[in-house]
Amino acid sequence: MDHPVHECDVLIIGAGGAGLRAAIEASQQGCKTAVVCKSLLGKAHTVMAEGGMAAAIGNVDERDNWKIHVTDTLRGGQYLNNPMMAELHAKEAPDRVRELEAWGAVFDRTKDGRILQRNFGGHAYPRLAHVGDRTGLEMIRTLQDHGIHQGIDFYMEMTCTKLLMDSGRVVGAFAYEREKGRFHVFSAKSVVLATGGIGRAFKITSNSWEYTGDGHALAYDVGAELIDMEFVQFHPTGMVWPPSVRGILVTEGVRGEGGILKNSDGDRFMFEGIPELYVNQTADSAEEGWRYVTGDRDARRPPELLTRDHVARKIVEQIKLGKGSPHGGVFLDIAWIKEKMPNAQEHIKKKLPSMYHQFKELAGIDITTTPMEVGPTTHYVMGGVRVDAESQMSSVPGLFAAGECAAGLHGANRLGGNSLSDLVVFGKRAGEYAASFAKENSSVSVDETQVESAVSHALEPLERDGQGPGPYQIQYALQELMQDKVGIVRLEAEMEEAAAEIAELKKQAATVAAPGNREYNPGWHTALDLENLLIVSEAVARAGNLRQESRGAHFRDDYPEKDKDYWAKHNISCRRGDDGEMIVEAVPVVPMRDEIKDLVEEIG
Ligand code: FUM
Repeated sequence: MDHPVHECDVLIIGAGGAGLRAAIEASQQGCKTAVVCKSLLGKAHTVMAEGGMAAAIGNVDERDNWKIHVTDTLRGGQYLNNPMMAELHAKEAPDRVRELEAWGAVFDRTKDGRILQRNFGGHAYPRLAHVGDRTGLEMIRTLQDHGIHQGIDFYMEMTCTKLLMDSGRVVGAFAYEREKGRFHVFSAKSVVLATGGIGRAFKITSNSWEYTGDGHALAYDVGAELIDMEFVQFHPTGMVWPPSVRGILVTEGVRGEGGILKNSDGDRFMFEGIPELYVNQTADSAEEGWRYVTGDRDARRPPELLTRDHVARKIVEQIKLGKGSPHGGVFLDIAWIKEKMPNAQEHIKKKLPSMYHQFKELAGIDITTTPMEVGPTTHYVMGGVRVDAESQMSSVPGLFAAGECAAGLHGANRLGGNSLSDLVVFGKRAGEYAASFAKENSSVSVDETQVESAVSHALEPLERDGQGPGPYQIQYALQELMQDKVGIVRLEAEMEEAAAEIAELKKQAATVAAPGNREYNPGWHTALDLENLLIVSEAVARAGNLRQESRGAHFRDDYPEKDKDYWAKHNISCRRGDDGEMIVEAVPVVPMRDEIKDLVEEIG
């Protein structure tokens, strides 16, 4: 073969929290482990889960335990979660937090020196272990520091464009170097996808350029199933001004520390229209909400800490009513706590240092004195590769997925803070089971024809010599389309139009031209990413249209209610059609085991 071939037992694609934790585990199990990542180590979207990592350790409120955490997660996910994943996650998250601490993560502390936990939306008790508002960053730093000494091979700034197969089993991947454009082949006995989300399919997103649905598309391409792709989370609070920073995350930690949402009339609008599932848990006065924030165990949560799907819709409602802020958002006010706390300014800077600097430097606003302008931003996809709850293996032998590109834990809506714990709980599991698979299955050989076809496919946009549509125009058109027609509030006609327009964009993408050569050519990279973006976008639009109800993050103006009888179903998108086209169909949910069913009935 003309290209370098790297042999390993376990190949991990992606170096965020899930990829790194999987790599550490596979390597500890004695497997030769390689990690390929699109960007530089340390730049994964994991750093954007700022406010904390949910784990029922019970340091701040000892009433908390895994049973409450699992019921909170299921209620937040509107019971579309894989119940076994929710259970494993709630039970194992505390150990993963302690493990990170043992590996050097410097969590904020309680007065008596234990890991401090903060409030977040949908969690019954203060549950988020955190490091100011830089928790994801600390997680990545810790995992990197720990993993780097284990002999794991890292290949940075490389993108995988194809998985390689042998008799229905995954046996490696084909990749290119982003800088020099050289091709590489990885042969592996098992592969873990940990590529994160799909945020770049939308115009306004907290996600960085890497999040183009690569793992979703790689898995789909080899026949794995994607589940519940319609559930895309719009985080309620992204920056809206100035335009150059629109979409950048404003952590939910601001609301966890007492931040309130107001419209242009100065009204705290979140008190209206509390969802039925949460009426009993929500404060009915500003006073009670503040008592909750300051640790009164009898007080109920302020309405700003309702689940993200609801908060995002309430913000959109205010904007549509003409009660938004000057730049098309609403106001998020943490400065008001000075009425309650003598040392409020220092407190804000200590608990939310990144937010303080972010607004000061990017928007010229001091959040200790002035409300922020915020609005929803595409943050996370609950849908992804359908995996077995315990092993994280997909329906394709040898192919595992963990973190955001896998699905099941979060159901129709993810609770904030459950993503960082998801990454390490299921990253570890994926690494462990991928290692076992590698040990139990024979060595592999890579088929050169598959590699050569991957090479030809990758080179097509360059070989068109500029004669075809440009990749950026197609990407922008897709982002506008998804934002406008498959966004926070959806309608049948609009999703149908979106699906038709995506089909049209696919035709254009098949003739896309990227002028220049293979070295330092971002146009070429964008042309290759486009295929993935179009696959995930089609799945989101079509699964969204099939789900004729509103549930969690999927809200339809034409079906505003939850359909309890019919739609307790999952939507599966896979490549099964006669011509390899996408099939989207509904399948029954995984039943809950009796103990969990009883907990749901008893607790919520
Ligand atoms: O708001 C945040 O800090 C985000 C956390 C998350 O997505 O889990």
